[in-house]
Amino acid sequence: MPKAIIVYDTRSGNTGMMAKAIEEGMTEAGIEVLSRRTVGATAGDVKDVDAVILGSPTYHSDMIGSMKTFLFEMEKADLKGMVGAAFGSYGWSGESVQMMTDTMRHIFGMDVIEPGLKMLRRPDEGGLKQCREFGRRIAERVRQQK
Ligand SMILES: Cc1cc2nc3c(=O)[nH]c(=O)nc-3n(C[C@H](O)[C@H](O)[C@H](O)COP(=O)(O)O)c2cc1C
Repeated sequence: MPKAIIVYDTRSGNTGMMAKAIEEGMTEAGIEVLSRRTVGATAGDVKDVDAVILGSPTYHSDMIGSMKTFLFEMEKADLKGMVGAAFGSYGWSGESVQMMTDTMRHIFGMDVIEPGLKMLRRPDEGGLKQCREFGRRIAERVRQQK
């Protein structure tokens, strides 16, 4: 079974809700998914999977600090060509999703699904449905690569 990891952080829970729903969509589509908070996640966690999905809210026009640290940790793994995707909740500008997307593409050489999924504040039922759909899209890309 193809494997994926979701690495995310969240301060007030909104990006965490997105992470859970994306995981559900991927699991429904037959992918084995591990989900980890950024703190404590290591390069070893992203090494032997078929896809890495990153989630960060936007704070002060930036990624949450722990995601920036994790991106330096990720640099230790060879991720060239691996499927990637980014998501995150935001309040008005939401820069974090494009930042994670750009890093995965330009630094790690990953096959990134664009655009990533940005969601305004706390996802409602419709938002969670979109997250599950995004999860299924990621699963499809993983299957195409196999
Ligand atoms: C101090 C502070 C700064 C913020 N800065 C931004 C920002 O620059 N751009 C933006 O789109 N949202 C900003 N937000 C809104 C958060 O991104 C939003 O509340 C988001 O849903 C938080 O996600 P989380 O629950 O996963 O932590 C900020 C919120 C706080 C409390």
